[in-house]
Amino acid sequence: MVPLVALVCCLLSACCGRPSLALPLEPSGWGRPPAVGQFWHVTDLHLDPTYHITDDHTKVCSSSKGANASNPGPFGDVLCDSPYQLILSAFDFIKNSGQKASFMIWTGDSPPHVPVTELSTEIVINVLTNLTTTIQSLFPNLQVFPALGNHDYWPEDQLPVDTNDVYNAVANLWKPWLAEEALRTLRAGGFYSQKVAAIPNLRIISLNTILYYSPNIMTLDKTDPANQFEWLESTLNSSQQNKEQVYIIAHVPVGYLPQVKNTTAIREAYNEKLINIFRKYSDVIAGQFYGHTHRDSIMVLSDTQGSPVNSLFVAPAVTPVKNVKEKQTNNPGVRLYQYDPYNYKLLDMLQYYLNLTEANLQGKSNWKLEYILTQSYGIKDLQPESLYGLAKQLAILDSKQFIKYYNYYFVSYDSSVICDDTCKAFQICAIMNLDYTSYVNCLKQYYISQNH
Ligand SMILES: *[C@@H]1O[C@H](CO)[C@@H](O)[C@H](O)[C@H]1NC(C)=O
Ligand SMILES: *[C@@H]1O[C@H](CO)[C@@H](O)[C@H](O)[C@H]1NC(C)=O
Ligand SMILES: *[C@@H]1O[C@H](CO)[C@@H](O)[C@H](O)[C@H]1NC(C)=O
Ligand SMILES: *[C@@H]1O[C@H](CO)[C@@H](O)[C@H](O)[C@H]1NC(C)=O
Ligand SMILES: *[C@@H]1O[C@H](CO)[C@@H](O)[C@H](O)[C@H]1NC(C)=O
Ligand SMILES: [Zn+2]
Ligand SMILES: [Zn+2]
Repeated sequence: MVPLVALVCCLLSACCGRPSLALPLEPSGWGRPPAVGQFWHVTDLHLDPTYHITDDHTKVCSSSKGANASNPGPFGDVLCDSPYQLILSAFDFIKNSGQKASFMIWTGDSPPHVPVTELSTEIVINVLTNLTTTIQSLFPNLQVFPALGNHDYWPEDQLPVDTNDVYNAVANLWKPWLAEEALRTLRAGGFYSQKVAAIPNLRIISLNTILYYSPNIMTLDKTDPANQFEWLESTLNSSQQNKEQVYIIAHVPVGYLPQVKNTTAIREAYNEKLINIFRKYSDVIAGQFYGHTHRDSIMVLSDTQGSPVNSLFVAPAVTPVKNVKEKQTNNPGVRLYQYDPYNYKLLDMLQYYLNLTEANLQGKSNWKLEYILTQSYGIKDLQPESLYGLAKQLAILDSKQFIKYYNYYFVSYDSSVICDDTCKAFQICAIMNLDYTSYVNCLKQYYISQNH
């Protein structure tokens, strides 16, 4: 078997020119791909390098912003961003899980939530360097696809439309994972597209959706910041002509926020533009993966006739941080997707989590499976039709499935949490409607508008 493995590695590195990336999956049989392909998704690590256990709980972490940490332990606290030990425990779990993955996506937000004066371009780059180095030393043979988050810049949210120290720094850091053309657009605008080395005909498009993020004043008067829309359309068009499939990854999601009425995360006009592009090329896009909200949620994009055409996933954060006024937060989570290795259609998702309270009590991290998407909801796969069917089940009055969904939304942080009718209307409308017209129609249908 050794000569075969060597041959496959040889062929791959020859065709992709990436000798540094060994084949992460062992070939099963004579060069045939395995029955399912898998990849990891990690997001919102938010390292707080100041985290340390001390008697004065206001001094445990800068990210608590002067508030007393609530119950600080070695793996963190709900009022703090991640201690390095929490992040390491997540990657150690991934490494020792026994799961074979062909790549990993990493959708941004590495620095902590602290006042702008406590950070600088240099500190942001140091954190990005620290986490990139950590990942590269633990997974020397795994190709990782990062996307920039709104915290991966100083000052936060203000990602520019042209080259700068941060885009340049990450292009240097991410060289082992990306080819020349990807590094060029990353330096210029913070986005790229890159073929997956271990897999034929699968491309990752990593969008810089922070250019569209509402608080970003650098792009206020721009219709196509950094020409990313034009680039996206032409990249999808080439993929279509080359018979490739694409996974879209980005930090800030498209669509409506699940907890707030009528609020998109990116500016509304940009949202409409992106949705139109995704609809036009939905046959090329086999999945979309986001972070930023720190919560676990799904979305189903429908075409203008109302038929489901794309499945979108928002992964929960590794950081458990919450604001002192918030009641709910999330346990730390990482996830594994399964796809059909012949056509890259999504088959399933396994959500793993750390019970933070338990880990701190026991002084050891016991990452566990939280749920398997198809099994938990009794659906066939993660195709748009299946997710749409699930969404319709969730929408039913007193749906048991929805109670489950809302517990997973916070990564099982508090199973007694209740989502009332108004809360549920926002959740359901955000799952099923990504454009303004259909979202507002949905609210009219599910929500008693005279009350608000
Ligand atoms: C990352 O930072 C942590 C402290 O916040 C430090 O302990 C660790 O050694 C650093 N790792 C790397 C690879 O720089
Ligand atoms: C933190 O806790 C201490 C001890 O309970 C208390 O005296 C102090 O007022 C608290 N500080 C804040 C900011 O809540
Ligand atoms: C893709 O580009 C080709 C050549 O520029 C053009 O003819 C075609 O209409 C484009 N496809 C779509 C779906 O816009
Ligand atoms: C939704 O928000 C938009 C933009 O903020 C506003 O123009 C519109 O009137 C709102 N629609 C409803 C139904 O609340
Ligand atoms: C997490 O651990 C705590 C403490 O052991 C326990 O009370 C809680 O039920 C656990 N949560 C879950 C979802 O298992
Ligand atoms: Zn975040
Ligand atoms: Zn974010």
